[in-house]
Amino acid sequence: MASVKFYGNETVPLEMHKVRIVQKLSLPPIERRLEKITEAGNNTFLLKNAEVFLDMLTDSGVNAMSDQQQAAMMVADDSYAGSATYTRLENKLRELFGMHYFLPAHQGRACEHILAKAFVSPGKVVPMNYHFTTTKAHITLQGGAVEELVTDAGLEVVSVNPFKGNMDIGKLRALIKARGADNIAFVRMESGTNLIGGQPFSLANLADVSNVCKENGILLVLDASLLADNLYFNKVREAHCKALSIREITRRTADLCDVIYFSARKLGCARGGGICIRDQGIYQKMRPLVPLFEGFLTYGGMSVREMEALTVGLEETMDEEMINQGPQFIAYMVDQLQDRGVPVITPAGGLGCHINAKEFVAHIPQAQYPAGALASALYIASGIRGMERGTLSEQREPDGSEVFANMELVRLAMPRRVFTLSQVKYAVDRISWLYDNRKLIGGLSFIEEPEVLRFFYGLLKPVSDWQDRLVAKFREDFGDSL
Ligand code: F0G
Repeated sequence: MASVKFYGNETVPLEMHKVRIVQKLSLPPIERRLEKITEAGNNTFLLKNAEVFLDMLTDSGVNAMSDQQQAAMMVADDSYAGSATYTRLENKLRELFGMHYFLPAHQGRACEHILAKAFVSPGKVVPMNYHFTTTKAHITLQGGAVEELVTDAGLEVVSVNPFKGNMDIGKLRALIKARGADNIAFVRMESGTNLIGGQPFSLANLADVSNVCKENGILLVLDASLLADNLYFNKVREAHCKALSIREITRRTADLCDVIYFSARKLGCARGGGICIRDQGIYQKMRPLVPLFEGFLTYGGMSVREMEALTVGLEETMDEEMINQGPQFIAYMVDQLQDRGVPVITPAGGLGCHINAKEFVAHIPQAQYPAGALASALYIASGIRGMERGTLSEQREPDGSEVFANMELVRLAMPRRVFTLSQVKYAVDRISWLYDNRKLIGGLSFIEEPEVLRFFYGLLKPVSDWQDRLVAKFREDFGDSL
């Protein structure tokens, strides 16, 4: 992909695959889009997919599968206990990560539930480069606390730092000293750090974190859900990784960790999850929780067909040409938006393109959820479904006060190998129209606010008639266009 130069000067992320199954899309007119987002309580999670043109909500469970993955699904061994399908998956994970033990789970947050139940109790701290919503929820449910130790550079929106997901080693040492190693449940590193814009950590940084953990007898847990992106960035951005294959970088990454868990809705382009473990004692501590919450030890809530697809998907992750499409399409979108002056997170990361709502709609106070408002406005303007990743995605303090997010982002996920370049161009066009009309966008307030993970099903309303005015301006500028 990257090595194909065009005769013209344009940089084009050329696909190294062809599309052989398609799904029809529809784009409802803007008046209907306004109606639908109103019914959904201005929460893009609550839109029906039939009303969505480009679904950029997430890359979770919606990446395109390869022909090899689909083929493997046809030969799954469907038995409750000891299926050959499970053995194939276990062997592939052993081969790639070099860890002997594996516990299957139905998805990433199920792994987090098990890890939190096994290791977190009131008073315990889990230092991490950055939290993910479900991770934090499970840790706090067990009475533990999260400490974010990402380097200060990680929170700079506009940057050329290639590894904004790195952990600050000084902060880690200071935390261990202040709280005591015994009070640290484990250290968690998240690959392709989701909530700060899909930003990777370097292999060198992971090695430093691993050394500090070893010195202090603390477990190092890797959230490998977005490992494919992280591996790609290690390879292209980290000098000492250039000569290594993706498989070698994977093994070096794994060798630094004690436990690796993942959402197979992301890693391996299937649906499921699991926890790989080096030490037998740690395995035995978590094992009883799997049959209790997930399913028997040889499926953990996953269907055998998904396990077959995952085994192939994990192997395909070792092929640079299979994992570079996402980051390269994202880089294209980020560059195009930057050229049009739209505030986006840089450098381009994995996962998706992240719009900086704090700057895009700087006139909306954080208490009125600027990123949520922008996600709603974008659906109205384009039929594109993005995801709020800002204050709405936070949990209130026990006293009811808001936790204002460090970053107010609208994430436009790029499911791998799903969208064409013209669809990406459409997204860029409508986002730049919205940017030119940003003063029309207003805030949101809650109608109904759930206590836990409120962003999933909370209902909100606009604070004024701003949405009607946005529709009127669209009609003025685009006539009868969809
Ligand atoms: N860890 C990370 C880094 C994730 O991005 C996710 C999910 C999880 C854990 C939980 O995994 O969904 O399989 O239970 N991220 C999805 C997203 C939801 O849209 O970014 P899960």
